[in-house]
Amino acid sequence: MRQHSIAAIPADGIGKEVIAAGLQVLAELERRCGDFRLAVTEFPWGSDFYRQTGRMMPADGLDTLRGFDAIYFGAVGDPGLPDDLTLWGLRLAICQGFDQYANVRPVRLLPGIAGPLRNARPEDVDFVIVRENSEGEYSGNGGRTHRGQPEEVATETSIFTRTGVRRIMEFAFRLAMTRTRRQVSVVTKSNAQRHGMVLWDEIAAEVAAAFPEVAVDKVLVDAMTTRMVLKPESLDVVVATNLHADILSDLGAALAGSLGIAPTANIDPSRRYPSMFEPIHGSAFDIAGKGIANPLATFWTGAMMLEHLGEAPAAARLMRAIEQVTGGNFPLTPDLGGTSTTQEITAAVCSAIRREA
Ligand code: NAI
Ligand code: MG
Repeated sequence: MRQHSIAAIPADGIGKEVIAAGLQVLAELERRCGDFRLAVTEFPWGSDFYRQTGRMMPADGLDTLRGFDAIYFGAVGDPGLPDDLTLWGLRLAICQGFDQYANVRPVRLLPGIAGPLRNARPEDVDFVIVRENSEGEYSGNGGRTHRGQPEEVATETSIFTRTGVRRIMEFAFRLAMTRTRRQVSVVTKSNAQRHGMVLWDEIAAEVAAAFPEVAVDKVLVDAMTTRMVLKPESLDVVVATNLHADILSDLGAALAGSLGIAPTANIDPSRRYPSMFEPIHGSAFDIAGKGIANPLATFWTGAMMLEHLGEAPAAARLMRAIEQVTGGNFPLTPDLGGTSTTQEITAAVCSAIRREA
């Protein structure tokens, strides 16, 4: 029997609720498929841990995680702590420490979900955003001088390296080769940003030349926002910098109907380190503890994790179960206009998995 070790880190707010639900669904799938086993270890890291220990995770946290095959992550964020502390202390520490340079964010309108685009059918909204996840605008490069003085200066310098840009472009083009449309849209802003973004474009063109089967187009980031809304059917793989893709993927999540559905994977394609799978949303303290968080994003990212682990049939079975629940007459959670609880959706997805024996 194939075995995969999973580190589960629910962390804060609704992260705790959706990861508990995700583990239930994965356990059901494991029982029904019968040909793989997930050995799950849970880690109580996050803001409560910070209050007890002064750290979001132990000093040797990355060493502990290194031996796992994948990380299943909830969300960080606590109303009583600064957001940059919680984010850099745990989630970004893992992404950067494990060089998870490819952030993959599928955008699909699932059957039965009423998205905000009046005429969009599920087949019209089906693309993947590939976000550069290790450098660019979020390199943390910069500083502040003359603190507190009238002449105070702050710099935030974007870093684009040839290696960093090349590897994310190669990842995007390889991903396009696995899809039927085989198309990459390169998001840029090289009209206004004359250094980093021009290097980005040059390397995109070099990599494109090595993938003659993939159609490529170049789109300015501002134009991409309108294209996503007005012509989503024209998109397949969208590759963008850390900042641009951060913004575009929230728009993508909205086009797909709710932040509560949108999944993401932080991948180390070299597989030197474990990759991390999480819902896009945050800890949502406005609804935490109420039992009404939508767990679908966490289920979908669980399917991405199974696929990464080589369990493609189980991943497909989980996606079919999710689509049966969204496409059936089952009431969904309040973020999708329904009245169901997290637990009711979880039970519905588990029974859809069982029905497919
Ligand atoms: P958020 O994603 O937590 O919530 C935004 C809105 O969407 C809220 O009204 C929330 O109730 C709703 N929502 C989000 N996920 C939902 C779900 N699964 N089901 C139903 N409704 C859902 O973003 P917000 O409010 O900007 O941030 C809250 C905290 O989360 C902050 O501390 C922020 O830093 C953190 N955060 C953490 C992320 C992560 O860990 N990857 C990502 C985004 C935010
Ligand atoms: Mg974001």
